[in-house]
Amino acid sequence: MIDRFLEVRSQSEILCQPLLIEDYSVQASEFVSPPKWHLAHVTWFWEEFVLTKYSPEYSPYNDDFSFLFNSYYNNVGKRVLRPVRGLMTRPSVDEVYAYRNYVTQAMVALLKTNLDKEVLDVIEIGINHEQQHQELFVYDIKYILGNQPLFPQYGSGFTPKEISQVSGFSKIESGIYSIGHQGDRFSFDNELGAHKVYVDDFEISSNLVSNKEYLDFIEAGGYSDFNFWHDEGWSWINENKIQAPLYWHKFDGEWWNYTLQGLQKVNLDLPVMHISFYEAFAYSQWKGMRLPTEFEWEIASEKFSWGQLWEWTHSAYLPYPRFNKSLGALGEYNGKFMVNQMVLRGGSVATPEGHSRKTYRNFFHASMRWQYNGIRLIK
Ligand SMILES: [Fe+2]
Repeated sequence: MIDRFLEVRSQSEILCQPLLIEDYSVQASEFVSPPKWHLAHVTWFWEEFVLTKYSPEYSPYNDDFSFLFNSYYNNVGKRVLRPVRGLMTRPSVDEVYAYRNYVTQAMVALLKTNLDKEVLDVIEIGINHEQQHQELFVYDIKYILGNQPLFPQYGSGFTPKEISQVSGFSKIESGIYSIGHQGDRFSFDNELGAHKVYVDDFEISSNLVSNKEYLDFIEAGGYSDFNFWHDEGWSWINENKIQAPLYWHKFDGEWWNYTLQGLQKVNLDLPVMHISFYEAFAYSQWKGMRLPTEFEWEIASEKFSWGQLWEWTHSAYLPYPRFNKSLGALGEYNGKFMVNQMVLRGGSVATPEGHSRKTYRNFFHASMRWQYNGIRLIK
């Protein structure tokens, strides 16, 4: 556990190595958090949920930090609201690193003692929580750099593989299948409560939709025919003047897109990414197909390779029949977001290794597209 803990703590800092000091405090949009905030918030999580509860000697690094770095836990108390995280030029980046170090040392001391299952379970959540923020950090730094006039590079990595030439569909027989996490390994509470679901026959694509295929949709006028869109999606593309995936730019008749390696010509063989649920749905309509439900996705997940991009499903993020949220603040982790969000399944090139699994339920509002997501179709 100590090794895993230290590895995750150090990974958060490795991700920040390409940053300039100026990059750390910027909040480029309401849904983006500054890198400095991520570094401090995951540290606060250890302090709040582990150290102050299970380490009797522990004294918090700074009593104001709970107010500054609590994300959304009403049970913990008042906090700086999300839209103004970028106004905090203080504490300094150096102080946030000192805070990290202080908490990491206290955690290592605690981990060297005999801990019971209750504490170890919370530590496991803390490890998974910090990994989730590492992925969010990738989305956020891409948004921060990708919206600058000079499109600066972050560095290498986090690029999906080109779509394999072998395409096709796998057929799944109708039947009653078990859905949800089972076994002793870690899962979040929203995956628990395995239960049975009936699905009809379906065929699911082996590949994600490519940029080339998505470009065909754009060029065929997909963004100007309301017949392919939900009413809400149609309003959304018109109000926001959306004509292409996030980070796409047309220069002299050619499509370019911002990647973490800088601005590049759109590689037609890569999977399309950074599309909203509305766009994924409209594309499926244009193609005469549909998106999988989260149950179909989970049942079929052994038939294709996944993990390049999170895949939009046509399932609302709802509690499973026996969903049981934890007591206290940790009960706010997942359950309170189960309204007006769609489920995404799989994982992405920005997901820390080993973090996801076939029962993992990611979720975003239908309009969100700064996350690493893509489209897989069903016919
Ligand atoms: Fe968090």
